[in-house]
Amino acid sequence: TTNHLRHVESMATMPSGAGNIPHLNAIVLGEALAFEENDLIFPSDDFSRQAHVPSPGKYLEMYKRSIEDPAGFWSDIASSFYWKQKWGQQVYLENLDVRKGDIRIEWFKGGITNICYNCLDSNVEAGLGDKIALYWEGNEPGVDATLTYIQLLHNVCQLANYLKDIGVKKGDAVVVYLPMLMELPITMLACARIGAVHSVVFAGFSAESLAQRIVDCKPKVVITCNAVKRGSKVIHLKDIVDAALIESSQSGVSIDVCLTYENQLAMKKESTKWKEERDVWWQDVIPKYPTTCAVEWVDAEDPLFLLYTSGSTGKPKGVVHTTGGYMVYTATTFKYAFDYKPSDIYWCTADCGWITGHSYVTYGPLLNGASAVIFEGAPNYPNPGRCWDIVDKYQVTIFYTAPTLVRSLMRDSDEYVTRYSRKSLRVLGSVGEPINPSAWRWFFNLVGDSKCPISDTWWQTETGGFMITPLPGAWPQKPGSATFPFFGVQAVIVDEKGVEIEGECSGYLCVKSSWPGAFRTLYCDHERYETTYFKPFPGYYFSGDGCSRDKDGYHWLTGRVDDVINVSGHRIGTAEVESALVSHPQCAEAAVVGVEHEVKGQGLYAFVTLVEGVPYSEELRKSLILNVRKQIGAFAAPDKVHWAPGLPKTRSGKIMRRILRKIASRQLDELGDTSTLADPNVVDQLIALADV
Ligand code: PRX
Repeated sequence: TTNHLRHVESMATMPSGAGNIPHLNAIVLGEALAFEENDLIFPSDDFSRQAHVPSPGKYLEMYKRSIEDPAGFWSDIASSFYWKQKWGQQVYLENLDVRKGDIRIEWFKGGITNICYNCLDSNVEAGLGDKIALYWEGNEPGVDATLTYIQLLHNVCQLANYLKDIGVKKGDAVVVYLPMLMELPITMLACARIGAVHSVVFAGFSAESLAQRIVDCKPKVVITCNAVKRGSKVIHLKDIVDAALIESSQSGVSIDVCLTYENQLAMKKESTKWKEERDVWWQDVIPKYPTTCAVEWVDAEDPLFLLYTSGSTGKPKGVVHTTGGYMVYTATTFKYAFDYKPSDIYWCTADCGWITGHSYVTYGPLLNGASAVIFEGAPNYPNPGRCWDIVDKYQVTIFYTAPTLVRSLMRDSDEYVTRYSRKSLRVLGSVGEPINPSAWRWFFNLVGDSKCPISDTWWQTETGGFMITPLPGAWPQKPGSATFPFFGVQAVIVDEKGVEIEGECSGYLCVKSSWPGAFRTLYCDHERYETTYFKPFPGYYFSGDGCSRDKDGYHWLTGRVDDVINVSGHRIGTAEVESALVSHPQCAEAAVVGVEHEVKGQGLYAFVTLVEGVPYSEELRKSLILNVRKQIGAFAAPDKVHWAPGLPKTRSGKIMRRILRKIASRQLDELGDTSTLADPNVVDQLIALADV
């Protein structure tokens, strides 16, 4: 209880004005005394004492300033980065209200900088040249490599020089289809160095998905490797790229250069299919280039990267992030949410193909001069102890992962965890989906030996960095709550009419005012940007997530409220899966919903109506699933195909997904009112076929 009192005390000494921030009222006003002790997990005194933000009071002081004076707060932080030229008069400029004109967000406009310079050259100049920037752990235990800051800089410069040589210029897109080799962050940084815009495509996407992205952003070059081993499986990435390039050229986008890294451990050069006039081996050209390369200075608002993500309708959206604000925001969130110190060894298990890998494998850690581990393999190979083996091997202090990984490892014997020391760990992190309290407790008690705070970070591809997250030294935690908003983030909960609700409530999670890491547009589709994110609740950025806030002001994310499904932390649009199913010649119609899944969080459940006269068969089921694998990727394959003679539709033809969700989760007594259906019999037919 000493801890408890200490917190309550510090809450009592909060700055007086903090009571103006509505969602913090409960805490500030001393209602914290009503905390149920059992629900609260306090950081140790030792941890808090050394933390950047040691108490709720300190958080409130900083948070308050960040909201009342965003320009001052963020420009103070931005001043510690290298700017060739400082930004103009206005630190930021924004309009988030569609009723007042075009949506526009700008931070540090007129400031001239380069994020690669800030990640590498600045750290080398500060004396960190010989510090390890990246520890690379290969798929097979015992296969590893390292790069110091100076070595990383040299590697990046060689690639940057090559890219310039083949004509890649500032503003040109570069598509990257690489697994977790060091060449992936090297490529991202090389693009950033010359002002090119990288678009990394997760190497689990199919040829068709890759082609779709290539056609959309028309890159000068595609960068890949011949193959990768994940666990005991070899994946021939170059074959997938070859197929994608055939497809994209049929849509009028042909690629002159495909730079291919030879990943010798997975596949030899000789067995790789090759197109002489287009394909270039990385190892043949890159080492010949000079290890220094002048930086292309860019405006803070020049684009840094494009990253495609799924929405509830239509094609994947090209989320555009710019340079200056993203740089300041990822670095700052990394520092505070993980309480980063120079002596830390950091490991994030995410793939650079997703936003987490962009912000918190590559940019955030390197901007802080951190040593980061990157892992090529699968977390349960050769056995479910691999992660903790890696933690001990590199003496990892900060371990950041996804709930799905925690849940999958939880199913194996605890002995896989306890046989390793894990003594180095001091902060744990979670991202991608809500972490259920039982997984939270296993992670906390077993993996972290009940001493490591868990930063459950809520954010999105669109937000660039953390939005709601614990600051590990400041807050007592509640298992499963992402706690409080990060500095500068005005998270609000609105009702269905778009009216802000305060106190204990639940509703739609929105954000008022911009933050530096916000995305600026959707590539070539500003209209869709406005429609999807700013029109649903005018005046706010709408996240697509539901959220509730408890009596103590803690935030609890409740999942997507749109037709986006979160499978193992991978964001999948139901519309994309449906369109892949319907493209099968024997499929007439499909509706996909999410169902609770023990390991993946959510699983995909597909209702499929076949073309008249086509009989159900196991073979057909497999072939439908194969269509999804081919068009999107294996990670989007439905877990269940439910034959549907018809789908429940309203008289106006709208599919009632609410009913499908209930059938999928077998909550048959909660189907609700089915009388508005065009054909209520459909429901009985579906129930009858549930286990066919
Ligand atoms: O539903 C939320 C969930 O993941 C969505 C964003 O997915 P994506 O853009 O792929 O980015 C994932 C990595 C940032 C959100 O709309 N989500 C992410 N983190 C959390 C979360 N849900 C609950 N708690 C989280 N910590």
